[in-house]
Order: sequence, then C-alpha cells, then structure tokens
Amino acid sequence: MAQKRILVIGGTGAQGFAVVKALVEAKDPFTVRVLSRNPDSETVKETFKDYPQVELVKGSFMDFDSVERALQDCYGVFVNTDGFTVNEADELWSGIRIFEIANTIPTLRHFVYSSIDYYLRLTNFDHKYAAHHTNGKGRVHTYLDGMTSPAHPDSKLVWSVLITGPYNEDLIGGPYVPHIAADGTRVFRLPLGEGYIPFMTLQDCGAFALHMFQNREEWSGKTLLATSHFSNGKEIAETLSRVAGVKARYEPITVKEWVDTLPYANAPVSSMYPDGITVGQNFSMWWPGFANSILKNEGTRDLGEMKRINPNLQSLEDWIRETKWDGTARQVLKGFKDGGITAEMQQLRAE
Ligand SMILES: NC(=O)c1ccc[n+]([C@@H]2O[C@H](COP(=O)([O-])OP(=O)(O)OC[C@H]3O[C@@H](n4cnc5c(N)ncnc54)[C@H](OP(=O)(O)O)[C@@H]3O)[C@@H](O)[C@H]2O)c1
Repeated sequence: MAQKRILVIGGTGAQGFAVVKALVEAKDPFTVRVLSRNPDSETVKETFKDYPQVELVKGSFMDFDSVERALQDCYGVFVNTDGFTVNEADELWSGIRIFEIANTIPTLRHFVYSSIDYYLRLTNFDHKYAAHHTNGKGRVHTYLDGMTSPAHPDSKLVWSVLITGPYNEDLIGGPYVPHIAADGTRVFRLPLGEGYIPFMTLQDCGAFALHMFQNREEWSGKTLLATSHFSNGKEIAETLSRVAGVKARYEPITVKEWVDTLPYANAPVSSMYPDGITVGQNFSMWWPGFANSILKNEGTRDLGEMKRINPNLQSLEDWIRETKWDGTARQVLKGFKDGGITAEMQQLRAE
C-alpha cells in the first residue's frame, strides 16, 4: 500500500523535526514533506542530511498560496506555526486560514494543530498570564473546538489538536538554561517558586503526533492534552545532580530578577516585529502559569493515559540519561540559531 504523505509545517524546527523523525522512522512509515522559507540553507541541509527521503518545499505559513501548493496530494498536515517569528495576531489568522484551505484539498483527511495551553482562558483572562505565544495558539484551538469534525458534512477532513508543553530541551537551549558557577555548580535561578513545569520532551512530542496520525478516528474532533512529566525547580536540580554527577541547585527568584539575568531579554519576542513586545515582557506573562501550577492545580493532564498512548514516555531522569544532558548549553531552537542567539547567550547570568 502507498505510504500516506504528511506535510509538516515547522518541520525544520525543534518540534517539527521531532515529528518528522517519528513519522519516517515508524514501523509503518509515512512519507513526509516539509515547508520551509529557506529549504536550501546550510542549516536545513545539515538537519536533513540523514533523511534524504524527506521532501523539502519552499514557502511560508503566512503565504497561503505556498501552503496550498504544499498541501497537494497530502493525507495529513501537522501545523506548528511559530509565535517567535510572527505575532499572536498572525498566529491566529494563519492557523484559521490554513484550516480553511486544508478543507479544499481533496486528498487531505487529517489536520493536526500543535497548540499550547491557553493560560489566559484557564485563568479567566487574567492579564498576568497573557504570554503572546500562548495566546495565538490557544485562540486557534478554541476556534477548532467550536467546529464539528469534519467541519462540513461534505468534507472528509477531520481535525485534532495536540497540546504540548515547554520542551525539556529548553533546559539545554532556551529560557531556563542554568548558570554555571565558578566551581561548576549548575545554578537554576528561576521564577518558579514551588511551582511545576508541564514538560514535554521532543521525543515524546514526536510519539504523540505519530499516534494521532495513526489513530485518526479516535482523535477526530479531539484534543490530546499531552505531557511527559511535571517537575519543579528542586527536582530539576536534584535529578541532574544525581544522574549526571554534577553539582546543581535551585534558587527561586522573582520574574524581574530572571529578566535581568536573561542575556536576550530585550530582543523582540517575534523576530518579524522588532517594535513589538520583548522576550522579557512576553515571558514575564508566562512564568506565573508555572509558578502558580495552573495546570497541576487544574488536573489537566492524565499521566496514566500518557503512558497508554506512549509506552516510552520519558521521565526527567530518562530524558537526562538518554540525552546525556549535563547542564551545559547547546543550540536547540532553529529560530535562535538563525537570529544569532548563541548557546553561550542562552545561559542565564549569575545575577
Ligand atoms: N520552546 C518550547 O518549549 C515550545 C514548546 C511548545 C511549543 N512551542 C512553540 O513552537 C513554535 C516554534 O517551533 P520550534 O519550537 O520548533 O522552534 P524553532 O526550532 O525555532 O523552529 C521554528 C520553525 O518555524 C518555522 N517557521 C518560522 N516562520 C515560518 C514561516 N513564516 N513559514 C514557514 N515556517 C516558518 C521554521 O522554518 P524555516 O526557518 O525553515 O522557514 C522552523 O521550522 C512556537 O510557536 C512555540 O510557541 C515551543
């Protein structure tokens, strides 16, 4: 039987590439096409050097003609728009418009939208939780949730939403890379209080997306609220120390102190909008969701269900062992690499 083709929007990035790998390395693999603004760049060539079977096509998720072309002959589409390139309004608009276009593609059967928890809605629209990169995706999720699946009686396309969480890999390259003190201690100075982060490893993210494409009927019109594990600051430091054999400690700080130690805090959060809000301003509205354990309190994740769906679900300890993370920084996000935010710049300053 011919393999089904999936278009992965965002497939050259950290999340999308994890999904690509899961799709092409599955026992019954899918054929994969990836949309990229610069498919011929050295970075993209390097990412795909061991995956010559993946088709790379040029386009932008904001250029809807290019999306329509890329969707031709596809069975499914995984949509991870990038709220750190565009702003929250663009993310809302592109998510909705891509869904509308998807409904016109005769071969398309499954639209999987990658979202994040909509903290603003979960907290009765409290501005304190209004991080722009969570708002855009959360609003698209709400739009889809208001649809039947299929959205029209004549359509054969069903939709599903995969809600992920902050990547474990952000600990390697992202907003919570520890500072390394002179004696080698990894110091996690984070505005997390006693709160929990609903972590998602990139490997698990790929496994959840694969599961959804493999089980279209089960997930038609449904949302998978996924997580790998919840961990607090103390657990992160203690587990790193025990597994990697390095000294580590957690120091809770205020959001303002965290912004002051983040080397790229004044950069725009959306690279296409240099006059928009900064990384520091955006993430100041993101940490409170974890510090106040909004998800943990709401009981919005079911770890037993996670293991049923993904028997290889990674605990924090599994993830540290399997990635050999030792608290040092490495480049993870394509956007950071393209934007000149080096691994060194991702390490938090001492104070
Ligand atoms: N970091 C986290 O912990 C985390 C967790 C959950 C969700 N997310 C969400 O994931 C998104 C970012 O993806 P990522 O984490 O994989 O980051 P990344 O490694 O920086 O990758 C960004 C991806 O977005 C693509 N992209 C950006 N603008 C595009 C455009 N106009 N048209 C087509 N593709 C475009 C890039 O493709 P090209 O450069 O090849 O065009 C690349 O594949 C954000 O919206 C973020 O909120 C992040």
